[in-house]
Amino acid sequence: MNDTLPKEAYTDQAFFKLEMQHIFSNTWALAGLVEDIVEVGDYITVQAGLNNILLIMNNQGQLAAFHNMCRHRGTRLVDGKGQLKSKLTCPYHDWSYDLEGNLLSLPKQRSEFADIDKSCLGLKKAKVAIFSGMLWVHPDIEAISIEQWFGPFSQYLGPHDVESLVESKDDLQIEEINANWKIVVDNYIDHYHLAQLHSGSLNMYDHKKAEFAFVGHHFRFWEPLTQDYAVDLAKNAPLPLIDHAQEEKRGTWVPMLFPAIGLAATECSWSVFHIIPCAVDKTKVVVRTKVKNCSNLEYLKQGMRSANYWRQKTKASQPQYDSSHPLGSGDFMQEDIYICEQLQKSLTSPYFEPGPSATLGESPIRQHQALVWQWIKPYWQQHKTDTKQQ
Ligand SMILES: [Fe+2]
Repeated sequence: MNDTLPKEAYTDQAFFKLEMQHIFSNTWALAGLVEDIVEVGDYITVQAGLNNILLIMNNQGQLAAFHNMCRHRGTRLVDGKGQLKSKLTCPYHDWSYDLEGNLLSLPKQRSEFADIDKSCLGLKKAKVAIFSGMLWVHPDIEAISIEQWFGPFSQYLGPHDVESLVESKDDLQIEEINANWKIVVDNYIDHYHLAQLHSGSLNMYDHKKAEFAFVGHHFRFWEPLTQDYAVDLAKNAPLPLIDHAQEEKRGTWVPMLFPAIGLAATECSWSVFHIIPCAVDKTKVVVRTKVKNCSNLEYLKQGMRSANYWRQKTKASQPQYDSSHPLGSGDFMQEDIYICEQLQKSLTSPYFEPGPSATLGESPIRQHQALVWQWIKPYWQQHKTDTKQQ
């Protein structure tokens, strides 16, 4: 793509496996929102690189994280999310653990395990943290704290008090994208495309005045509202305004937390854009959105108040397409997904060759690629040497 990351970074499953092993297994992973786990026994599971982590509220009312594997044969204990009464039981041979991860007495053929020391066979612990209204896990119990991981970056997340907002379940969006996870991240942090691809869908923000840069591993981005939108914001906003988001400089905060968690904190919503790598050319994106805690009637009224403004404002990116086509939809997510997939398709062409990169607008992409390359380069070079020798 540029003179750092090789093209195989987007097409070769071996490169993808190295990323899972060395990036996604060694960084803090998003597990959910704080309200996902509120009662003793509530649990969620999350993939963190090569590790599946189980996050649960234990009998003391504390969050605990474990590697989701029975200590007998390694079978995954639970899937998805749910509620456990008092223990975790492996479906294979009924080995059971309490909510603190301790192995309980073995149910059958007890004599076959007469000599084992149960105290050594508790579930392996992972690390858990709450940060900015979100639940996070790290596969390594000795990992640096989440406060150290984000460091001073928390000042770039926006003024939103995430826990005071409520999730808008109607806005839950789950997308399967036929593109490498880095194409999705690169697109998220690419300033250059905003004024073109999203000319009719993100035209309420003043892209020329955007402020953005990498701060360590994480990317900060802020841009103000356009004059025509801001002049009568109380009427134009599509949703009730989040009062405390008006206190600081008004605009939208769209950071990307390394390696693949985007946030979008606007004047009337807060979203987490969870990019989940599935295969070298497959990525799942789950977007959860929170809004002001007020009545349905208030939402209805605001929608009606702003309808006329948006009818005129929202346009197809390419007018020759009708609204059933992503480029005719006026929906920035559909526009982005389409472009990510079109880019991925070209990567297998022997004629593929990246062109010049915009000095400022595409600088985040170059920096992101350099960052990934820093993490993977020695392992990739070793992999190339090993495959040559075979
Ligand atoms: Fe975009």
